[in-house]
Amino acid sequence: MKRSPIVVLISGSGTNLQAIIDACKLEDYPGEVVAVISNKADAYGLERAKLEDIANESLSHKAFDSRELYDQALIATIDKYQPELVVLAGFMRILTPQFVQHYQGRLLNIHPSLLPKYQGMNTHQRAIDAKDSEHGVSVHFVTEELDGGPVILQAKVPIFDGDVADDLAQRVHEQEHRIYPLVVKWFCQKRLIMTNEHALMDNKVLPVSGYASEE
Ligand code: GAR
Repeated sequence: MKRSPIVVLISGSGTNLQAIIDACKLEDYPGEVVAVISNKADAYGLERAKLEDIANESLSHKAFDSRELYDQALIATIDKYQPELVVLAGFMRILTPQFVQHYQGRLLNIHPSLLPKYQGMNTHQRAIDAKDSEHGVSVHFVTEELDGGPVILQAKVPIFDGDVADDLAQRVHEQEHRIYPLVVKWFCQKRLIMTNEHALMDNKVLPVSGYASEE
């Protein structure tokens, strides 16, 4: 079986990266992480890549005068690995339109909220402050609108009385590790595509909250 080459971009601990790496070890999984790239040299996700013998690089944004120049260098670094898919897994940078266009239709992100709610930062605290009864996570295609691309799959978690942001982050993380490898699998199986800023699964346009999966 040919496995689709995947490059994963991270800035931190890389638990989602690990979930995808672990999924790739399954015999019938259709993807393979060929490189991990971080904008932070001390991101633990780079250690995870080293432990798994996966190519890894850090490219600090601090060495570049503009966002455009950094993203150009990032594209050059990524494209050495000729990925079919680029996965953002806690990559905490705003991307330029040029970057997004370059990977249009093959760039995925995971965001810790039930999009379109709580785009941006501090999503767990914002859900608690709003007295929401549920929260969650979304995997979506990346478009030029920050956290605004079409949703592919969401998972919900309850919010309990007395929860603090860390409780919620932990509950959300567990779901992230379930849904991200699943969406990556669908993409590598070519079941999932983006056209005209809509996500299509098995040739059907997905609803705004993504696929309702029993898998
Ligand atoms: C994840 O919770 C992910 O949803 C979030 O960063 C965390 C990375 O965790 N991403 C964003 O907030 C993007 N806007 P990890 O490094 O353990 O995978």
